Amino acid sequence: MTQSFHPPVRTLMGPGPSDVNPRILEALSRPTIGHLDPAFVGLMNEVKHLLQFAFQTDSALTMPVSAPGSAGMEACFANLVSKGDKVIVAQNGVFGGRMKENVELCGGEAVMVQDDWGMPVDSQKVQEAFKNHPDARALAFVHAETSTGARSDAAELCGLARDYDALSIVDCVTSLGGIEVDVRGWGADAVYSGSQKCLSCVPGISPVTFSERAQETIRQRSQPVQSWFLDMDLVMAYWGESTQRAYHHTAPVNSIYALHESLIILEEEGLENAWSRHLANHQALAAGLEALGLELIVPEHHRLPQLNTVAVPDGVDEAAVRRQLLDEFQLEIGAGLGPLAGKVWRIGLMGYASNRKNVLFCLGALEATLDRSGGVSAARSAL
Ligand SMILES: Cc1ncc(COP(=O)(O)O)c(C=O)c1O
Repeated sequence: MTQSFHPPVRTLMGPGPSDVNPRILEALSRPTIGHLDPAFVGLMNEVKHLLQFAFQTDSALTMPVSAPGSAGMEACFANLVSKGDKVIVAQNGVFGGRMKENVELCGGEAVMVQDDWGMPVDSQKVQEAFKNHPDARALAFVHAETSTGARSDAAELCGLARDYDALSIVDCVTSLGGIEVDVRGWGADAVYSGSQKCLSCVPGISPVTFSERAQETIRQRSQPVQSWFLDMDLVMAYWGESTQRAYHHTAPVNSIYALHESLIILEEEGLENAWSRHLANHQALAAGLEALGLELIVPEHHRLPQLNTVAVPDGVDEAAVRRQLLDEFQLEIGAGLGPLAGKVWRIGLMGYASNRKNVLFCLGALEATLDRSGGVSAARSAL
């Protein structure tokens, strides 16, 4: 007979999913109710308001897409890009490459602005691209590039898009809840995130928000949106403010309980406190890594506190170290992607997993595995 699945208990310090707060797991296990039950409709309204708080926006078109971050990404492109549209895509890692593919799948033309992996998007290059392509309809970029650990200046980039009368499409999958995301202040037009990173919720939900300008673009579309499931006009009839919700799809009811709980936890802590906790734990980890003779690949002032990308020292077997951490310490850290595969480890300190205990545990496990010393004590001094 096939047995029930009982996962090993790990500490998740990779690029996501991150450790889920037990409060969220408890919320997930509450009884399932109908997705049009009045009690669930009330919960949906609360989730929307909590997401407006987390994103810092007043936009009514703010909701969770019932699918992972990639679906949030696709929702933004499918609704805002029409055949023939030119979109400037800034790429400094894996996820900018996926944005390009999305633009092309919508029949658009992607004008690529490339930056080195590990560096932020260079706004000068983006400005040049706008000068050379004044007909560009949108600028797309990743705020927190999970493949490298680099943070880009979203306020500046969204401002540039506005200067050139273009929409901004911003990937905040890894940033939401970990560093400042200020949709209102940035003037961002379409922003998507994921549940499994700094919100410490279970994977499979993608919060999105669209500005008034983006909503107007959707209303003015002359071509139908290529995706039925992600067509925001249809989704809004389900997630909109009205109490008369039209059936669109069956929301993942229990996952929405979980998202609600994760957003309440964020509200209780406060946005600024959550950001400073991520920063303090990152600084301690960075001090410990440095004491171990390990280097972070991103220059200090461009680093994401929630995703630390470490160069693998010469002569060390990257995969063997990760395997040993998993087998001996039940600790997951991430591998490199694309050109960084085999060259880096990615250590996440996201959401619930961004805490003092994990910083010390990870450094202790690395000390033992690499046979080096000094990391834990350097981190303790920093803390
Ligand atoms: C920056 C970024 N964008 C998009 C995604 C895709 O999200 P998902 O894996 O939830 O589909 C990820 C996932 O790691 C990500 O880090």
